[in-house]
Amino acid sequence: MTKMHTLLLPLFFTFLTLSQSQPHSDAPPSSTVCIIGAGIGGSSVAHFIRKYSPDLTPTTKIQVFERNNIVGGRIATVTIAGETFEAGASILHPKNLHAVTYTKLLKLKDAVDRFSKYYEETGSRPIFETVDEMLKWSGLFNLTTRTLQDELVDAGLSPLLINELVTVITRINYGQSVYMSGLGGAVSLAGSGGGLWSIEGGNFQMAAGLINRSEVALHLQEEIKSVADLGDYYELNSTKGNSYICDVAVVATPLDELNIQFIPPISIPERKLQHTHATFVRGLLNPVYFGLKAAAKIPDLVATLEDPKLPFTSISVLKEHNEEESTYKIFSRQPMTDILLDSIFSVRKETIRINWAAYPQYHAPEIFAPFILDGRHLYYVNAFENAASTMETSAVAAENIARLILSRYFGKVSVHSSNLNLKASSQEEDAHLDL
Ligand SMILES: Cc1cc2nc3c(=O)[nH]c(=O)nc-3n(C[C@H](O)[C@H](O)[C@H](O)COP(=O)(O)OP(=O)(O)OC[C@H]3O[C@@H](n4cnc5c(N)ncnc54)[C@H](O)[C@@H]3O)c2cc1C
Ligand SMILES: *[C@@H]1O[C@H](CO)[C@@H](O)[C@H](O)[C@H]1NC(C)=O
Ligand SMILES: *[C@@H]1O[C@H](CO)[C@@H](O)[C@H](O)[C@H]1NC(C)=O
Ligand SMILES: *[C@@H]1O[C@H](CO)[C@@H](O)[C@H](O)[C@H]1NC(C)=O
Repeated sequence: MTKMHTLLLPLFFTFLTLSQSQPHSDAPPSSTVCIIGAGIGGSSVAHFIRKYSPDLTPTTKIQVFERNNIVGGRIATVTIAGETFEAGASILHPKNLHAVTYTKLLKLKDAVDRFSKYYEETGSRPIFETVDEMLKWSGLFNLTTRTLQDELVDAGLSPLLINELVTVITRINYGQSVYMSGLGGAVSLAGSGGGLWSIEGGNFQMAAGLINRSEVALHLQEEIKSVADLGDYYELNSTKGNSYICDVAVVATPLDELNIQFIPPISIPERKLQHTHATFVRGLLNPVYFGLKAAAKIPDLVATLEDPKLPFTSISVLKEHNEEESTYKIFSRQPMTDILLDSIFSVRKETIRINWAAYPQYHAPEIFAPFILDGRHLYYVNAFENAASTMETSAVAAENIARLILSRYFGKVSVHSSNLNLKASSQEEDAHLDL
């Protein structure tokens, strides 16, 4: 069965724009949009371009380049002992935090309400040229200028609650402390309140499904190593030795740890990525390590506070196979060595390690990279990640980039019709639910 979080549904299903056919006078008869990266960001850009301008489909080619041999990026599965689990984005549900009613945190509720403004009809929702503008419009910008700690203290939370509960959540979700900037922090708290979803067989199928239905030429295992502005078009060269001509180029991956060569060079604020080491173990935890008598006494989620002596952020049970064996997921800031794992586990049959360049390190005040990297038609979806990094925010940023491309390159004006919107959304919902 497929379960989806309601927050995601409005984005994919309730937009409808009628794109007026008024091609830009000097737009070429056929155009190519090139997208670097086939994560949820890149696949959503393709999806929204097609969705908002079906009339352009015959003349507009969309090329998607993905260095991996599979789409999804940071949404990926891992197979351990023959069973498949989410390895990256999963929306974790910290069971023992159920009791905490975060809706009490007024500011947090505000943040969630404000974010929902990005689902308003496109007729009343501007197309944003910068991340600052996009966040100011919804009233979320201020949250990126202060730390989560300061926001929560102002909201009247006790330092004890902040240190003991909020810290646990920001560490699990972003590998960072409550000194991270407030919006990212608010997003991680919002994600811990229940109503969570995942897609059976792997969340990555979202990206695969979007690409599949967007008439895209997908180039797997093809890494783009340079993007050159040759005046009228961009030339993208790949590690396979191929060269592609593109009228519009979209970067849908964080640039911070990549060495794509841009000609002429582009400049973006320096940003460090937080690495999260995800270690998957099939075996059994050693109760002695936790000061307990039996493995069965160890909770399904062991979360931790900020303490340099603690070698991991969280350990959670993904599946209990029987009393002697479970599959666990460990998050840590440093790699988990074999010696360490052998002290934490009494039985260890299989171990898989993934070092994720997971999300930005959040610092208040955040400084945002531009959506439009060169003042022309080179776009950057992941500029928005300095506000917050989630599958959902990637899709919201991607939608805005698609609208920027349609208005700036293709000269499209989007109009909204409320009647059509309702009708289309219920039909689309059926069509998309089995993605
Ligand atoms: C461990 C972990 C847990 C997370 N948990 C959650 C969660 O529970 N909920 C949630 O909503 N979010 C979560 N996130 C965040 C979420 O995964 C990301 O915000 C989101 O998936 C980013 O999507 P993206 O498309 O912007 O980037 P990515 O998924 O990183 O996609 C970029 C793609 O570009 C490709 N690429 C890079 N360079 C090149 C190149 N030069 N040429 C061609 N291709 C290239 C990459 O291979 C990749 O496939 C988590 C992330 C991690 C790492
Ligand atoms: C954001 O902060 C500015 C300056 O402190 C203030 O004027 C404005 O009202 C704040 N906006 C919101 C939405 O809180
Ligand atoms: C893509 O579409 C084809 C044909 O419609 C289908 O067979 C395939 O399963 C789809 N793949 C995904 C990942 O949705
Ligand atoms: C890209 O490839 C083309 C064709 O091989 C070549 O002429 C050009 O110099 C390359 N550009 C870069 C930046 O390497």
